[in-house]
Amino acid sequence: MEYRIATISGDGIGPEIVTEAKKVLDRVGEVYGHKFNYEEVLMGGISIDTYGVPLTEEALETAKNSDSVLLGAVGGHVGNSRWYDVAPNLRPEAGLLAIRKGLNLFANIRPAYLYDGLGDACPLKKEIIGDGFDMVIVRELTGGLYFGERRTEEVDGIMQATDTLVYNENEIRRVALKAFDIAMKRKKKITSVDKANVLDSSRLWRKVVAEVAKDYPEVTVENMLVDNCAMQLVMNPGQFDVILTENMFGDILSDEASMITGSIGMLSSASLNEGKFGLYEPSHGSAPDIAGKGIANPIATILSAAMMLRFSFDLDQEADAIENAVKKVLADGYRTVDIMAEGMTQVGTIEMGKLICERI
Ligand code: IPM
Ligand code: MG
Repeated sequence: MEYRIATISGDGIGPEIVTEAKKVLDRVGEVYGHKFNYEEVLMGGISIDTYGVPLTEEALETAKNSDSVLLGAVGGHVGNSRWYDVAPNLRPEAGLLAIRKGLNLFANIRPAYLYDGLGDACPLKKEIIGDGFDMVIVRELTGGLYFGERRTEEVDGIMQATDTLVYNENEIRRVALKAFDIAMKRKKKITSVDKANVLDSSRLWRKVVAEVAKDYPEVTVENMLVDNCAMQLVMNPGQFDVILTENMFGDILSDEASMITGSIGMLSSASLNEGKFGLYEPSHGSAPDIAGKGIANPIATILSAAMMLRFSFDLDQEADAIENAVKKVLADGYRTVDIMAEGMTQVGTIEMGKLICERI
C-alpha cells in the first residue's frame, strides 16, 4: 500500500528525531512492501520565522489531505525566545492548538509504562513500583480551558484576565467512547478524573461518563478527583489502566505519568479524530537545550510512528515489528544519554535510529 504522511519536524530536536522515524518507516516499507510518501509541513517557531504565523492555512490543508501526520516537537525556551514576546495567537504553541482543532483531534492517547530494564530510571521507590505499571491517559484535546473564551482587560483600573472552561455533553461523550474502546482492549478499567467537588463542567463530565458506561458493562469505572489522582500516581501507579480526563487536567497528569516512567524520551502519543485519522508525536517537548547535538532520544517518535501504523493504517504486524525492534535494541544494551545506565553502550540519535532499522 501507499500512504501520504504529512511530517512536521518543527523546532528544537524535532528535525533530528523525525528524520530517524522516517528512516524506520522506510525500513518497514522495504520489508513489508509499502510506500510512505512524506510531505513536510511547517509549524511552530520555524513557521513563524518563515511566514510570520505558527501555522498557515496551506499547511493545515496539506495535513488534512494526508493519511496521517507525524510531528516532532514545536516551541523554544519559554520566556527566553523571540517567539514568546508576541501575541498568544502568534506563539509556536498556537500552531499546535490550531492543528488539533483544525483536524478535530479530540482524543489524545498517552501511554505511560515502565520499560523492562529501565526500572532504575524510575524516580519512585521499589516498594511503590511493585510489579511496574502500564497505563494510558486519554485526554480530551479540543475543548475546556484551552479553547474557551479568554480575555485580558482593565476593570475599574485593575487588570483582570479570564479563561473559560466549557464542555458540552457531546464533546465529553465522544472522548469517553474512545476511552471505553481502548479499555476494552486492555484491563477494562477506567478512572475518570475530574474536580466534581467544585466545577460544574466536572459534574457534567461525571454524568456523561456514567451514561456511556452503561453500554460497557465489562468495564469497571471509578471517579477520582484530580488532586487525589496526582497523589495516587506517585503513591500507587499500578492501580491505573485507562485514565480519562479533560484537557487541562490531562496536560498536567500526563506529564506526571510520563515523569514516573523515568523515560519521557520513550513515550509516544496519538491524537485522533472520529475516524482513522491521527496526528502522532512524542510525549516530550522540543528540548531546545540539546537541539543539534545529535544526542536526543528518537525512540518516542519512532514508537509514535508505530502507533500510526496501528491506529491509522491497521498495519499491526508492521507496528509490532517496530516495537519489537525497540525492545531488542534496549535488550542489546544500547541507550541514548537520557536513559544511560552503567554497563550499557551509549549511542547518539542517528546511531539509535540505525540500530532499530537493523532489527526490523
Ligand atoms: C502538550 C503540551 C501542549 C499542551 C502545549 C505545548 C500547548 O504541553 O502537548 O502536553 O498543553 O497541550
Ligand atoms: Mg503538556
